[in-house]
Formats: sequence, structure tokens, C-alpha cells
Amino acid sequence: MGSQSYIFVFFVFIALLSESTSTLSKADKNAKKKDKATKNTKTEIDVAVTADEILKNYMHVDFKEEKKFPNPTLGYVTPWNGHGYDVAKWLAHKFTHISPVWFQIVPKRDTEPPTCTIEGTHDMDQGWIKDVRSNNSDIKIVPRFLFEKWSPPELQQLFGDELLQERCAKAVIDFLQRNKFDGGVVEIWIQVMSMSQGSAVRDLLHFIINWAEMFQYKDQQFILPVPPPLDAS
Ligand SMILES: *[C@@H]1O[C@H](CO)[C@@H](O)[C@H](O)[C@H]1NC(C)=O
Repeated sequence: MGSQSYIFVFFVFIALLSESTSTLSKADKNAKKKDKATKNTKTEIDVAVTADEILKNYMHVDFKEEKKFPNPTLGYVTPWNGHGYDVAKWLAHKFTHISPVWFQIVPKRDTEPPTCTIEGTHDMDQGWIKDVRSNNSDIKIVPRFLFEKWSPPELQQLFGDELLQERCAKAVIDFLQRNKFDGGVVEIWIQVMSMSQGSAVRDLLHFIINWAEMFQYKDQQFILPVPPPLDAS
């Protein structure tokens, strides 16, 4: 896979996540509405798009209507909000990606050489995934992974050791393939940038490129959430 196609995908997903990420809970229909509002003001929404209207209408969902927002649309589903699981099934046709917030990537110290392992697998629900897919056969199920329980020295080791990065990526990719997922949302940017106060950005980019290439090589989508800079208005 050439680096050009990688960069394309990388930026598409940054765009995707900044524009159309929403969590499937009450509060977030706000965000969804806002997306729609900014993209399709005239055709879709027959009220003026103002903060007041959004606050008034965010609970409204048209179940029958087709997806109008043309870009990829990702929805997070959290185990602590059962309603989100239903919304994802009922409105599967309005999403291109659903990301169940289930898994953590944790260091595995008791092996030589060290690697990482996946926790949170008790939350995995294949029956629900089947239901979601039955309402949208094209939908991509891309669970979110959080890096957890990494001490600063362990993170440093991860960034400094390319072979460790590859072992860990392989563990994640094997897990995704074994469970018939389409990729993963890898939450690492905010954690590392805040922990290192920005100084780890080069190592982080190197890590991300490495992982994204390994994911794509195995036909798994790699999605990286990147927040706006703190000084963005
Ligand atoms: C598919 O969506 C329809 C309409 O929103 C809903 O009634 C149905 O329960 C969904 N199917 C499954 C398997 O959840």
C-alpha cells in the first residue's frame, strides 16, 4: 500500500470524525442535527437553523427517511446507554459506521517480549451486531479502543520500540478479524498529547502511520479521533 493512499485515508477520517461523529444518546442528537443543519439547510430542515431550534428539535428523528447527509457518518454506542443500542438498530440506514465503545488496549507485561492485550470483551454483543447489519448490510462496525493502564514509561517504550508497536497492532488486528469487525476507532491522540503536553507528536504520528498501514494491509479501517486544537475558536 503506497503512502499516498494512506495519507488520503488518514485525512478522510480526520474529516469524518470532526464533522459527523455523534454518540447515540439523547444529548448527541444535537450534534447530528447540527451536521445536517450545516450541510443541507434548504432541502431538509424546514425551520431556521438556530441554536434555539436545535435545542427544541434535537429529539426529533424521522425513522422512515433515507440518509441525506452525504458524508460518512459515525455513531458511538455506549454500554451505559441501552437506548443507543436500539437507535443503532432502528436507524442503521442513516449511518455508515457504528462504533461500540467496548474495548481497551492494555499492556501485557507477563510475556517476553512484552505486547498488549484487549480488555472489555465481556461487553461484546454479536447478536446486536447481527441486528444492526440486518438493517444495513453495508454498515461498518468499528469498535472503539482506548489505551488504558499504560504508565508514562510504558507509553514511552511503546513509542520507542517499533517491534512492540507491531506486535500490539497485530494483536488488535487479529482480534478484529476473528470477531468479523470492519476496523477500529483508535483513541490515542488526546491521551498522548495531553500526557506529553504535545512533545510526543512526532512519535505519535510515527505510531499512527505504522498502525494505519498495518490495519489497511489487512483490510481493516483505521479511524483516528482528533480533537480541534485547544486554541481553536
Ligand atoms: C430495523 O429497523 C426497523 C425500523 O426502524 C425496526 O423496526 C426493526 O426492529 C429493526 N430491525 C432489527 C433487527 O432491529
